[in-house]
Amino acid sequence: KTVALNLGQLEKGGYPHFMLKEIFEQPDCIHDCMRGRINLEGTNVVLSAIIDYKERLLAAKRFVIVACGTSWHAALIGKHLIESFCRIPVEVEYASEFRYRDPVIDSSDVVIAISQSGETADTLAAIELAKSRGAFIYGICNAIGSSIPRATNTGSYIHVGPEIGVASTKAFTGQVTVLTMLALTLAREKRTIDETQYLAIVRELGQIPGKMKEVLKLNDRIAELSKIFTYVHNFIYLGRGYSYPVALEGALKLKEISYIHAEGYPAAEMKHGPIALIDAEMPVVVIATQNGLYEKVLSNIQEIKARKGRVIAIVTKGDTVIGKIADICIELPETMECLGPLITTVPLQLLAYHIAVCKGMDVDRPRNLAKSVTVE
Ligand code: AGP
Repeated sequence: KTVALNLGQLEKGGYPHFMLKEIFEQPDCIHDCMRGRINLEGTNVVLSAIIDYKERLLAAKRFVIVACGTSWHAALIGKHLIESFCRIPVEVEYASEFRYRDPVIDSSDVVIAISQSGETADTLAAIELAKSRGAFIYGICNAIGSSIPRATNTGSYIHVGPEIGVASTKAFTGQVTVLTMLALTLAREKRTIDETQYLAIVRELGQIPGKMKEVLKLNDRIAELSKIFTYVHNFIYLGRGYSYPVALEGALKLKEISYIHAEGYPAAEMKHGPIALIDAEMPVVVIATQNGLYEKVLSNIQEIKARKGRVIAIVTKGDTVIGKIADICIELPETMECLGPLITTVPLQLLAYHIAVCKGMDVDRPRNLAKSVTVE
C-alpha cells in the first residue's frame, strides 16, 4: 500500500498556510530565543555580544536603529525599551531615508540594524554608510550567515527559525524579545535599572511563551469575528506608548495580506486629523490593555463611539469598563507594560490572517511583495 504525501502540506505542519503556522510557533520561538540567554532561575539575562563589547556600547552617546517595514516597528519598541531602561537617547530611522540623508553620525554612535532576512538592500546600505563614518554596528537578524550579520561588528540572532510567509510574524516578536534582553543586559551594566524592577521583568519575560499560548486559544473566536469585516474598505489601528508600534504593525499586517487600507496611529493623534474619517462604517482597533495610559485610551474610545465608529478593543482579561463601550472585546492575559507588545501583537496577526482568508487571498504570497527586498 502507498500513502499519498503532499509535500507542501507536510512543510506547513498541518496548517493551511505558513503564516498561521508561524503565528502558532511563537511560544516555542520566543522560548528558543531566550534559551541560554536567561538563566533557569529567571534572575539574569545575558546577551553575550553586549558583554563582549561592553565598553564600546556603554560609551555610546546615542543609539540609532535602522530597519524597514516590520523590523522598523520592532525598532520603535526597542527605542522605548532602551531609553526607559538604559537612559541612552535612541533614534529610529527608515534605512532607506537614513542612507540618502547624509546623516550626522560618527564614532560616538552605535547603530543597531534590525532585519529578519539579513538581506534588505536599504538596511545593508545604511550599515555601510554608518560604518564608513566610524559608528559601531550591532545586528539583530534571523537568517544565519546572511549579508547583514556579516557586515556588522557584532550582534544577536533572534533564533526563531525560517520564516516563509511574506508577512512577518514570529520574526517581529523575536526581534522585540532580543531588544528587551539587550536593553536589560545593558541597563544592568550601566546601573540604570532598579534591581527589583529588573528581576520582575526577567521573571515576566519567562512567562511570555505561556501567555502567548493562552492568546492563541482565541484563534477560533478571531476567525469567527473576522467574517464581519470581509467587505470593509478601511481600518484604523490605535495604540499609545508601547502599543503605538503594535498599532502600526497590526495595520501593516492587514494591508499586506488582505489589501484593505489600514492606518496605524498614536491614539492621541486621532483628534489632529484621522477622527474626520470615523463614521459607522469605520472599524477601529484599539489596543487598550491595563497600563499607565489606560484612562487616556479609554477616553479615545469614547471619542470614537461618539462618532459611531465600530471599536474592536484589545483589553486585559477582566476589564469590565471597556467591555460596556466597545463593539468587540478581545481579552488578553495581563503582563507588564514594557512586555505588552509580545502579547498584543498576536491577536492582530490572527485578525489580519483570518480577514485575508475570508477574502480568499493568497496569504503566504501576497501580490507585489517579496520576502526580502534585495533591491532599492
Ligand atoms: C513585513 O510583514 C514585511 N513583509 C516587510 O515590511 C519586512 O518587514 C521588510 O521588508 C523588512 O525585511 P527584513 O526584516 O528582512 O529586513
